[in-house]
Amino acid sequence: MSKSVNPGPTGSDSTSKPPSGRGASTLPPGLVSLLDHAQHAQRLLPDAVCAYFNGGAADETTLHANALAWQTLELLPRVLRPLAGGHTRVHLLGRTLAHPMLVAPMAYQSLAHPHGEHATALAAAALGAGLVLSTQASTRLEDIARTYLPDPDRGPLWFQLYAQPDRAFTHELVQRAAAAGFEALVLTVDAPVQGLRERERRAGFALPAGVSAVNLVGMEQPIHPPLQPGQSALFDRLLNHAPTWDDVTWLRSISPLPLLLKGITHPADAVEAVRCGAAGVIVSNHGGRTLDTVPATARLLPQVVQAVQAVQGNVPVLVDGGIRRGTDVLKAMALGASAVLVGRPILHGLTNAGATGVAHVIRLLRDELEMAMALTGCRTLADAPPVVTWTAPHTAHHPR
Ligand code: FNR
Ligand code: LAC
Repeated sequence: MSKSVNPGPTGSDSTSKPPSGRGASTLPPGLVSLLDHAQHAQRLLPDAVCAYFNGGAADETTLHANALAWQTLELLPRVLRPLAGGHTRVHLLGRTLAHPMLVAPMAYQSLAHPHGEHATALAAAALGAGLVLSTQASTRLEDIARTYLPDPDRGPLWFQLYAQPDRAFTHELVQRAAAAGFEALVLTVDAPVQGLRERERRAGFALPAGVSAVNLVGMEQPIHPPLQPGQSALFDRLLNHAPTWDDVTWLRSISPLPLLLKGITHPADAVEAVRCGAAGVIVSNHGGRTLDTVPATARLLPQVVQAVQAVQGNVPVLVDGGIRRGTDVLKAMALGASAVLVGRPILHGLTNAGATGVAHVIRLLRDELEMAMALTGCRTLADAPPVVTWTAPHTAHHPR
């Protein structure tokens, strides 16, 4: 592959110090896992940005539960099986993908690195990972499509939608995404309001000049009548514009693109999503960033898969939250996921070395997935289900 992204080690003199600073494009030495990337990024990022990226809602119970749940699942290998010719390929919405990983939609990536979403898109495309661009991206969606789409190795390109108070504006945004070449819409449904982001608030996080939601330029903020005594700023103001199932039906009516719903946790909502014509659902608790004490997604996934299969066998169920190892990806696939989304580790790679860092994170996960498959006796991901068990619920050793 002759790519402008080099996912391998830089080969730089390992004695050279200090490690690359923010905005670097070469990998600092010694990063061999996603946890290494997270720790290195923490050293580079301003505290407030780190709190925005890594924090969760309230007591961060769900944030921690997500990663712990994948760790807690155990693998029961099969041995002596023929493995030659194995692969990580999966089918998703009519396409064959090299592996089942997509980059989760994450806002304001220019906070991590001056190349922002461009670097993420370049790396994801080169490494065959799907890309879900956030409505709140700090780069224009048309520019990201131009970066991502030409790569022959690319995965799917999807646009994450936060329904805006002004339907006409939302309509225009959807049309822009379709015209730019995005292949599906991902409506995020778990965040009608932001969660209690206390880590962020304590650290005093605010967007710096030059980083903004550029795709929302021109969106008029609704004018609200003054609140009456006894009225709630939430229920009588903000939530007037929160999306409902009607908006799902409306979106289906205005856009030919497949529509996935992100932030499904209850099996009954998954069934409703399928009834409303969703092309897929993403089991997600927003990486523990919205409502705290929602169960870990690893625990929610099997029941959502079961519910969806009961109504419509071929609607894919994706999952995100706490995926930090190739073994986590294997476990998600074993529990019935069609693919996984990876969130914060991408931002850590981006912080550490721009596109090279993102590519390295995806490469590490992919290599780890292949190794996990080999060591559990899975030639393909279809072989994964029997190798996962839930026998020891409280024995994880390594907090991440
Ligand atoms: C997010 N996430 C998110 N989701 C979404 O639908 N739209 C968005 O704009 C954002 N923005 C965002 C910013 C940051 C800094 C983070 C960390 C996350 C949630 C994201 O898509 C995904 O659900 C979680 O991040 C997955 O969990 P992990 O992999 O980060 O543990
Ligand atoms: C977040 C929003 C943008 O999680 O979804 O930061």
